[in-house]
Amino acid sequence: MDQAEHLDELLICRLDFAHKTVEPGTLVIFGASGDLTVRKLIPALYHLFVANQLPDPFRIVGFARRPKPDADWREELKEGIEKFSRTKKVDPEKWPAFAEKVTYCQGEFSDPGAYQKLEKLLSSFGNEALRRNLLFYLSTSPSQFAEVVEHLHESGLLAKADSGKFCQRIVVEKPFGHDLASAQKLNQELTRFAYEKQIYRIDHYLGKETVQNILMFRFSNSIFEQLWNRQAVDHVQITVSESLGVGSRGGYYEEAGALRDMVQNHLLQVLALVSMEPPVTLEAEAIRDEKVKLLKSIRPLLASQISSAVVRGQYIEGKIDGQPRIAYRREQKVAPNSKVETFVAARLLIDNWRWSGVPFYLRTGKSLPLSASEVRVQFRPTPNVLFAAQCGPKLDANAITLRLQPNEGISLRFNGKIPGTSLQLRPVRMHFSYDAEFGAYTPEAYERLLLEALAGDATLFIRRDEVEAAWTIVDPIREAWSGLELTEKEFYLAGSWGPKAADELLAARGHTWRNPQPIT
Ligand SMILES: NC(=O)c1ccc[n+]([C@@H]2O[C@H](COP(=O)([O-])OP(=O)(O)OC[C@H]3O[C@@H](n4cnc5c(N)ncnc54)[C@H](OP(=O)(O)O)[C@@H]3O)[C@@H](O)[C@H]2O)c1
Repeated sequence: MDQAEHLDELLICRLDFAHKTVEPGTLVIFGASGDLTVRKLIPALYHLFVANQLPDPFRIVGFARRPKPDADWREELKEGIEKFSRTKKVDPEKWPAFAEKVTYCQGEFSDPGAYQKLEKLLSSFGNEALRRNLLFYLSTSPSQFAEVVEHLHESGLLAKADSGKFCQRIVVEKPFGHDLASAQKLNQELTRFAYEKQIYRIDHYLGKETVQNILMFRFSNSIFEQLWNRQAVDHVQITVSESLGVGSRGGYYEEAGALRDMVQNHLLQVLALVSMEPPVTLEAEAIRDEKVKLLKSIRPLLASQISSAVVRGQYIEGKIDGQPRIAYRREQKVAPNSKVETFVAARLLIDNWRWSGVPFYLRTGKSLPLSASEVRVQFRPTPNVLFAAQCGPKLDANAITLRLQPNEGISLRFNGKIPGTSLQLRPVRMHFSYDAEFGAYTPEAYERLLLEALAGDATLFIRRDEVEAAWTIVDPIREAWSGLELTEKEFYLAGSWGPKAADELLAARGHTWRNPQPIT
């Protein structure tokens, strides 16, 4: 470490001393034989265990329908870690101690007897904390959330209580409802048996380091925050692109579409973090209050405005990296005449003092040229004198890009003189890269989220009013599209950046999409 780095280390400012500790207890996963458990939850728990971040004692119970001896389930989970985890490795020295903590409980969600069996299992651990400090993870279909929670309550495993020596909490996977009415209904059903404080709605985007860094970047640096407003910012582009098609998830996607799958949650969450006002404290409620305030300031779209403010698309046959890709309508479990959107681009306006008149462009899609998530804050051009007067639109306006993934980091784009005897300008970039600065360690989002839920810190989870505010924004769009056939203009080639209409959406205001670029 050189001297400058040493001095930087001395300036590390720790903010989580007041962070709640994780108490001994049991995590019960409902839907434990499913895809999410093996691909995300167990690898995350294993990494937390290896990093000594799980409490002692601690147990993991998997609850699902098909019968499975513990030994078989543990073996499946081990293979899952080797296949899907960020390290792809299981330490043979540590595995037995982790495996011992993992138990399978076979049961049907609708069967009250299954919850009694679960209660017996928890009691058999012989420790009051393992029986009564419980985190119920609902990794099930959303239509089963309410049923499971009701049975948990009736069997005495879940008490509606917001304080006390022991506590029970519920983590709910996305999607949370399929429209505002269903989200409100689900909220009512869950809060019959648990207080809002006990409910943790997941959006795994909030567990990503780079998404968490948005608030640090904005509110711990005076130079950027002073520019973060309508006086300096021309517009903002938020892109979440995926190069994959729907693959084997066609059945799910036919129900969801890009609007529900990505915009209602991930994109609106990122938008809220990028544009919210500073919270009064770093407490969960203060941060969530500001996010809700922001979501409520987004100008509602009237039915007559949808076609000029929102673009949908669906991919047809094309090529990505030279490899042929089939059309969405030919994917497994997709209707041959499906109207489901695999691409959405939207222009949203925020009606508050900071952002009035600044367009926020959101874009997401499948089968796009590359997988990348980024936020580009595009600043206003310089006045039309001096360099701008001579260069015209060739003089690039400044931009800050928050690269959420991959190549996690931040780039600043500005103009610089090309060295030489003639006077020439061109854009140059300054890159901050997480990897280069901190090394390659980036924990999976689920590691952070599981730890926070176990500790009872709700900052990274979605509050009831937040989820409802997000549906309020998205519902009119969904309704306007409902039953409408896709037009020729709405199809896009797999491997392109979406339908032409998405370019026209920006061109109408003199803007163009800046596509994520691979960083070399
Ligand atoms: N997979 C992902 O990457 C991902 C990403 C984000 C969000 N999610 C969300 O996470 C949730 C779970 O997804 P998943 O992909 O893991 O689903 P999945 O593979 O279909 O698994 C569903 C699980 O629920 C169990 N189950 C279903 N009906 C049951 C019943 N009546 N009684 C007892 N168990 C029952 C299944 O058990 P059996 O198989 O033993 O019947 C299985 O363990 C969903 O809400 C999904 O939207 C998933």
